[in-house]
Amino acid sequence: MTLEFRNLTKRYGAVTAINDVSMRFEAGKIHAIIGPNGAGKSTLVNLATGSYELTSGEIYLDGQAIHRLQKYQISLAGIARTFQNIRLFDRMQVIENIEVCLFPAEARQVWRDLVWPASARQRRETRLAYCMTLLEQFGLERQAFDEAASLSYGRQRMLEIVRALARRPRVLLLDEPAAGLNEAESAELRERLKALRRPDLAIIVIEHDMDLVMSISDHVYVLQNGALLFDGTPDEVQASQDVQQAYLGTENELESIRQLAQRRKSVRRLRHQAGTA
Ligand SMILES: Nc1ncnc2c1ncn2[C@@H]1O[C@H](COP(=O)(O)OP(=O)(O)OP(=O)(O)O)[C@@H](O)[C@H]1O
Ligand SMILES: [Mg+2]
Repeated sequence: MTLEFRNLTKRYGAVTAINDVSMRFEAGKIHAIIGPNGAGKSTLVNLATGSYELTSGEIYLDGQAIHRLQKYQISLAGIARTFQNIRLFDRMQVIENIEVCLFPAEARQVWRDLVWPASARQRRETRLAYCMTLLEQFGLERQAFDEAASLSYGRQRMLEIVRALARRPRVLLLDEPAAGLNEAESAELRERLKALRRPDLAIIVIEHDMDLVMSISDHVYVLQNGALLFDGTPDEVQASQDVQQAYLGTENELESIRQLAQRRKSVRRLRHQAGTA
């Protein structure tokens, strides 16, 4: 299974957010897309999932063109995402946040359920058991029946990932999953993402957290001003002069970028807590 971006360009009026970008993602691997703020990372996610229309270029999933499909068709084809800003159903239970994602696939069963309520009950049990195994993968099983809004910020981020996994996607796009997480939560996320690696799933992580990126990725793409600056293994990216000059800077600058990222994380966390208090 492969997802391919071929010469993608996206303009918003006079702004060229993505400029002739080609990338390739393979099942069984974890890929990262890094780059400074405004580099175009989220735009790429929105193009891949059909939220934004391409200005030009093509996207292929397993050789099939998907760039002209509707958003829901792309989702049915097996591409799932999380958002840079959490978007859960706050007033629903944790487990219901997962369960609702399964309904469209079962819509044709509605009539059968009316005629055979026992079979409907049994299918609900199967569905809930499935949701529970997903929640277990991210350590959320004990909070399954709590309201989603009652979870801590870090747990909500994990729930977003579980929800994206509900329909067994072939491609999982995570837009800054570590944003706002503290160090322990980031370390937990790292282990959970590593455990998600499997032969039928391509994982794409957009992140500013360099420690996370470099420790889990097989392949890293570096975006700058909407264009592909470099791609390679984490070691190659860290060794690249281009990347160091254009993005990471010198070793000292690297440290200051880390500190900046850390401060940004704390600010986001405070903002989020203020918003949900
Ligand atoms: N809906 C939009 N309308 C107009 N311009 C947009 C829109 N979305 C993004 N842009 C612009 O496109 C460029 C890329 O933005 P994008 O959000 O993709 O960057 P990013 O790499 O995800 O940044 P960050 O790290 O801050 O999340 C920016 O210049 C941004 O202002
Ligand atoms: Mg973004």
